[in-house]
Amino acid sequence: MSLLPLLLLLLLHPFSISTTTTTSPSDIKALSSFLSSIHPSSIPSFSCLSSWNFSSDPCHPSTPSHFLCALSCSSSSSFSHIISISLDPAGYSSSSFPLSLLSLPSLSFLSLSSNSFQGPIPSSLPSLPSLSTLDLSHNSFSGPIPSSFSSSFSSLSTLDLSHNSFSGSIPPSLSSLSFLSTLDLSFNHFSGPLPPSLPPNLITLAAKSNSLSGSITTSTFHSLSKLQVAELSSNNFNGVLGEWFLFLPSLQQVNLSNNTLTALDFKCGSAAAGRQGLVALDLSYNKLAGELPVGLAGFPAMAAMSVRYNRLRGGIPREYYEKKKGVPFKRLFLDGNYLNGRVPEGFLAGAGEELTGSFGDNCLESCPKTVGLCSPEQKPKWVCKQVYGSGKGGR
Ligand SMILES: *[C@@H]1O[C@H](CO)[C@@H](O)[C@H](O)[C@H]1NC(C)=O
Ligand SMILES: *[C@@H]1O[C@H](CO)[C@@H](O)[C@H](O)[C@H]1NC(C)=O
Ligand SMILES: *[C@@H]1O[C@H](CO)[C@@H](O)[C@H](O)[C@H]1NC(C)=O
Repeated sequence: MSLLPLLLLLLLHPFSISTTTTTSPSDIKALSSFLSSIHPSSIPSFSCLSSWNFSSDPCHPSTPSHFLCALSCSSSSSFSHIISISLDPAGYSSSSFPLSLLSLPSLSFLSLSSNSFQGPIPSSLPSLPSLSTLDLSHNSFSGPIPSSFSSSFSSLSTLDLSHNSFSGSIPPSLSSLSFLSTLDLSFNHFSGPLPPSLPPNLITLAAKSNSLSGSITTSTFHSLSKLQVAELSSNNFNGVLGEWFLFLPSLQQVNLSNNTLTALDFKCGSAAAGRQGLVALDLSYNKLAGELPVGLAGFPAMAAMSVRYNRLRGGIPREYYEKKKGVPFKRLFLDGNYLNGRVPEGFLAGAGEELTGSFGDNCLESCPKTVGLCSPEQKPKWVCKQVYGSGKGGR
C-alpha cells in the first residue's frame, strides 16, 4: 500500500480525529441570542463576531470563513459543546449582562475583556459549575456582585472584574469559591471593609483603586496560606498594619500605597523573619507614624521597599545597608518623611550604582543633594525643628 491511499483512508475514516459531531442545538441557540443582544452598530466588519454566521455549524472545522475566532469546542459527547469564548476587543456593546452565554452547559472559559458591555450582573444567575475563568475586565459593567454569584460559579479559579463600575461591598459569600486563585477587583467603586473571610486558596488578590476602608484584619487574611500578591493600593484602608500580615507564609508582593494606614506594628520582626518570602513592599503615601522598623531589613528576599511620603521619624537603621541575611535592597524609597540622624555610611560610599531610590525630603544629616540618593533636598531646618523640638534632633 502506498502512502497516499493510506492517508486518504485515515482522513475519511469515521473514527478519525476530525470532528464529525455537530454543535448542540441549545448551544447554537445561546450563541445566536448572545449575538442578537449585541448592538449591531458596535460590531465592526473586521471583528470575530461579524464572522458568526449560523448557516454553518459553529464547531464544525470545515467552515473556515464563519466563526473565525473566539470559540473553542469540545467533541467528546454526541454533540459538540462550546467550552471557551474569548471575544476580541472590538468595542462590542450591549445594554445588559450577556446572560444567554451562561446557558452554555460546558463553558469553562469566558472573556469579554476590553469591550463596552454594560449593565449589572443579574441577581438571579443560572448555575454554571464548569466555568473556571470569568474575565469581564475593561468594560462598563456596574452594580454589586450579587450574593448568589459564588453558588452559580462554584468552580471559578480566575475572576477578573477590574476596570468597570462595579460598586457595593465585596460579598462575604465569595469566600466559598474554594478554587479561586486569582481575584482582580481593581479600578471599580467597591466600598466598605473587606469581608470577614476571603477565598481560602487565593494566590493573587488585587483590589487597587476602589474605596475600600477599614483595617487589614487577621480574620480576613489568616487562612490565606497561599497568598503571594496583595495589591490593595489607592483605597481608604486605615489603622495599624500588624506584622502578622507580612508574615503570611507565601506572601511575596504587597502594595498598600496611597491609603491612610497610621502605623506599622513591627515589634519582634527580627525574630520571625528569616524564612519569609517577602520581595517587595510598598507602603508609600500613607500616614505611618513612628520609626522605621529595623526588622524590615530581616526579610532575606526583600529587594524593593517604599515607605515614601509618610510621617516616619528617627534614623535609618544601619541594618538597612548591612542587611546581612539575603539580598541587598535594589530599590529603597524613604523620601518624604521626617527621618533624621546620619545616613549609614555604605549607602553614600558608592553603593549608589546598584541601588535606586531616594532618601530626600527628610531631616537627615550628611545627605547632600549632590548625591543622587539624597535628592531632593532635605526639609528646611525649621520644619525639622518643629518635629523634633529645638534639641539636636535625637529620636
Ligand atoms: C452566511 O453564510 C451563507 C453561506 O455561506 C451566505 O450565503 C450568507 O450570505 C451569510 N450571511 C451573512 C450575514 O454573512
Ligand atoms: C490615590 O488614590 C486616589 C483614590 O483613592 C486616587 O484618586 C489617586 O490618583 C491616587 N494617587 C496615586 C498617587 O496613586
Ligand atoms: C503601588 O501602587 C501605586 C499606586 O497604584 C503605584 O504607583 C506603585 O508603582 C505600586 N508599587 C509597586 C512597587 O509596584
